[in-house]
Amino acid sequence: MVGYAPPYDRDFRVNIILTGFMGSGKTEVGKRLAKRLGYTFIDTDLLIEEKTGKSISEIFSRDGELFFRDIETLILKELTGINKYVISTGGGIVTREENILHLRKIGFIIWLKASPETIFKRVNTETHRPLLKVDNPLEQIKKLMSQREQSYSEADLTIDTDGLEVEDIVNNIIR
Ligand code: S3P
Repeated sequence: MVGYAPPYDRDFRVNIILTGFMGSGKTEVGKRLAKRLGYTFIDTDLLIEEKTGKSISEIFSRDGELFFRDIETLILKELTGINKYVISTGGGIVTREENILHLRKIGFIIWLKASPETIFKRVNTETHRPLLKVDNPLEQIKKLMSQREQSYSEADLTIDTDGLEVEDIVNNIIR
């Protein structure tokens, strides 16, 4: 008998993963989506804060971005064998190809796409994102987004969120 070799392990696509730039609505959408589906919601940034006992801002300022990225990859690798989770990821998780490969193994990836202007409007009044604490945040958003766009586009599904309310986005995903 010829052996059957599935292309992915058995974790494949039992979870929903939200990716996208900072301020694209991953957390808000993720929480509501999880509620509607009866799934468990988790946020990789929160898991990092729990693991280190520090805020994301503290990690960036005390330990640096590289350390943060290493913890992010570690946390992600620990997310194996889970089922029926909605996972909201940090906006930079796609900057490592190994992270994308792992995400693909554990779930269905949805990119919440938004224009730099929409992102800017959403994050302008917030202060907890170290990468946007610069003189010209809009320029920084445009720069990082153009660096990451290709990686985000590796998602299984893209939702253009410009002009949509959280509830519309959740409905689109469920549909
Ligand atoms: C980052 C996004 C943040 C957080 C960290 C770095 C990024 O998460 O992981 O500040 O590189 O885009 P959110 O996308 O949830 O804001």
